[in-house]
Amino acid sequence: MERTLIILKPDAVQRGLCGRILSRFEDKGLKIVAMKFMKIDRDLAERHYAVHKSKPFYPGLIQYITSSPVVVLVLEGRNAIAICRKMMGATFGSNAEPGTIRGDLGVSNTFNLIHGSDGPETAAGEIRLYFNEKELVAYDRAVEPWVYDFSGGQPQ
Ligand code: RTP
Ligand code: MG
Repeated sequence: MERTLIILKPDAVQRGLCGRILSRFEDKGLKIVAMKFMKIDRDLAERHYAVHKSKPFYPGLIQYITSSPVVVLVLEGRNAIAICRKMMGATFGSNAEPGTIRGDLGVSNTFNLIHGSDGPETAAGEIRLYFNEKELVAYDRAVEPWVYDFSGGQPQ
């Protein structure tokens, strides 16, 4: 099973879209293993987006992500990283496909509602940035055998 870090960004909180976005992931069958409501401070934002430090959009990105509270969560599932990226859609709502979160819920070329880790290594690093071990909650879901086919031993 794979884990990914998702952030419902300031515009998702301000526009009251958190519940609807979260529902899409729950409906899909992904499992919530951690979640918090918080304001990202400048230091954390700079660490999260260090890879974009040299980009022209970096100052605006730091301003945006620190401008209002966010919901941060960890989702778990088979191929969770790629599945979430696909559900999010292209970076901006202006060109994201209908049916995706960004494509259905936004039109902006800077505000884009959601962040999702883009690979296993970045996911591990990003999860560590926002959550300690104790906050990653281990539990069983009663529905698990109906979300995945376990007849062969491994989740399919
Ligand atoms: P994210 O990291 O937030 O999940 O989004 P992403 O992978 O689709 O996009 P990425 O290339 O990693 O960029 C990170 C965030 O920077 C802002 N951005 N602005 N003005 C621009 O050209 C531009 N490009 C990127 C977006 O907020 C994007 O989510
Ligand atoms: Mg990215």
